Amino acid sequence: MSETLENLSSETRKFPPPAPLAAAANVTAPAYDQAAADRLGFWAEQAQRLSWAEPWTQVLDWSNPPFAKWFTGGKLNVAYNCVDRHVEAGHGDKVAIHWEGEPGDTRTITYSDLLTSVSQAANTLTELGVSAGDRVAIYLPMIPEAAVAMLACARIGAMHSVVFGGFSVDALSTRITDASAKVVITADGGYRRGKPSALKPTVDEAVARCPGVEHVLVVRRTGQEVAWGEKDLWWHETVERAATTHKPEAFDAEQPLYILYTSGTTGKPKGILHTTGGYLTQASYTFHAVFDHKPESDVFWCTADVGWVTGHSYIVYGPLSNGATQVMYEGTPDTPHKGRFWEIVDKYRVTVLYTAPTLIRTMMKWGDDIPAKYDLSSLRLLGSVGEPINPEAWMWYRANVGRDRCPIVDTWWQTETGGIMISPLPGVTETKPGSAMTPLPGISADVVDDTATSVPNGGGGFLVLREPWPSMLRTIWGDDQRFIDTYWSRFGAGAGHGDEWVYFAGDGAKRDEDGALWLLGRVDDVMLVSGHNISTTEVESALVSHPSVAEAAVVGATDPTTGQAIVAFTIPRGNVDTEGEAGERLIQDLRNHVARTLGPIAKPRQIMLVPELPKTRSGKIMRRLLRDVAERRSLGDVTTLQDSAVMDLISSGMKSGK
Ligand code: WT7
Repeated sequence: MSETLENLSSETRKFPPPAPLAAAANVTAPAYDQAAADRLGFWAEQAQRLSWAEPWTQVLDWSNPPFAKWFTGGKLNVAYNCVDRHVEAGHGDKVAIHWEGEPGDTRTITYSDLLTSVSQAANTLTELGVSAGDRVAIYLPMIPEAAVAMLACARIGAMHSVVFGGFSVDALSTRITDASAKVVITADGGYRRGKPSALKPTVDEAVARCPGVEHVLVVRRTGQEVAWGEKDLWWHETVERAATTHKPEAFDAEQPLYILYTSGTTGKPKGILHTTGGYLTQASYTFHAVFDHKPESDVFWCTADVGWVTGHSYIVYGPLSNGATQVMYEGTPDTPHKGRFWEIVDKYRVTVLYTAPTLIRTMMKWGDDIPAKYDLSSLRLLGSVGEPINPEAWMWYRANVGRDRCPIVDTWWQTETGGIMISPLPGVTETKPGSAMTPLPGISADVVDDTATSVPNGGGGFLVLREPWPSMLRTIWGDDQRFIDTYWSRFGAGAGHGDEWVYFAGDGAKRDEDGALWLLGRVDDVMLVSGHNISTTEVESALVSHPSVAEAAVVGATDPTTGQAIVAFTIPRGNVDTEGEAGERLIQDLRNHVARTLGPIAKPRQIMLVPELPKTRSGKIMRRLLRDVAERRSLGDVTTLQDSAVMDLISSGMKSGK
């Protein structure tokens, strides 16, 4: 991307915060000024949200950039902050987790229950020889034991490495090996799409390849048959029989908390390392600020899996450090029916819902009549994370889920940033559909050109972070050089320019005339058409703004005349006729619609109507595979596809027009 991005879309709708929410908001406008005047003082104040066994002597040690240390000299125990202190404050009977199994079984876990379980698990891990600094792999379905296992590791100063339960033997064994995990915590299986889905056989195969694993702790969830080896121990025969009290030890603020692998565009996955004091400070503060959390009345629900960073920060560490009550759901959104999410919102009177654009677009495709059947009046605030949210998906979410009452916070962050970085504050920000708006107080995000110079309002370029932040990754596990190369060598001191260290996020962004930020996807997702840089996100949003379209994915395909040409894969909404001529007409209509919305330069060369899109397990569209189709190549590696049948579906069900 040598030039700036074209600034194509021109969204003008604006939504101020509802007055009652603004009047009672946890964080108000002066927070921005306070943080701008004294960034480190601001974060030091936020760290006071936690309970420290020893105070820190320095807020930030940046003497060896890009290796940061936050709250140096301070000591704390993360699990104590997430569990014990709430019980000590008299909230032991408060519900921490309303758990809903996919088949409809439920568990209610109070903070006292959580304290007992975490203490027992900590005692068991200690008996199994796990000590501070060791690694424990966690490969579990969405059951409360996942949170318990993570907190038990934190309690004894061990690192967890949670591996998403949908990953294969290869993915699991490479992660266990890279982290040299001593213990694996898993389950017989979990419920997915109405059936028990086994986990233990995958672990058995993975552990056979990882001789360093000493014990495998197995939760019984589904009751399905499992093969039993000499390393295996049942959770209910160990943890649930262990002593119920455990004294938490205070660890250094930079004690590692977890490794979480994120797949790079190339090469082996990166083990992102997070530590304790700064991470918990930012997870805790952002939960309080962005979700305006009111401990007496809110019921929070984050629909992510604990296998992703969203689950780490906004199911486990953010909500629990704030003493929140939350919902945790095991299964898929359409089991046993497509209204399952809304049924859960109603059942638990959820007040704050945090979900992903891919789910919102799926719900759009299923139709407005589904959420309309449910009582969603408990909701007061909605969040989005994971991808740019198309303005029309944002509007759909606002109207059909928020019933035009609830503000939406579109939160930009990454596994690497550990916590939310760019987001509206729900009581302060006048939001625009599709924009993550502005950096949070204490965060310095910027949009820059090739020379790391800030672009003016109205310009586009690369998203960077100019100052260290408390929950930043500390390194890539076992590979400091890759950490430097990947994030710090594109701009600033790391690239040999100036003495400022600039973090390169890998995303394209633009800053509009009001200074609001629009995330445009990974920079690899920018197309170069006849010399114009056009973002896939903007063309997708233009397509989704057409009433017949539920979802769209856009790629640049090599073109002899224009360099790259825009090829769009589009899923029509459920009720749209795509047979024969109607399909051809729709395609022409869509091409013209994009040209009208964004300008003729963005008119797709080709639009294909497809029944599904290829997605990774975390819901991101795999544009690489679509480029293969668009350029009529045989498909590359499909192993990280959520559902490998979709590529067949796309090739067979494709209706294409030029
Ligand atoms: C990438 C990070 C953060 C938890 C989930 C994803 C994209 C994330 C947004 C947003 C536009 C977003 C970016 C980012 N992304 N949130 N609100 N608007 N893009 O974590 O798997 O580490 O992915 O997700 O491209 O770099 P991740």
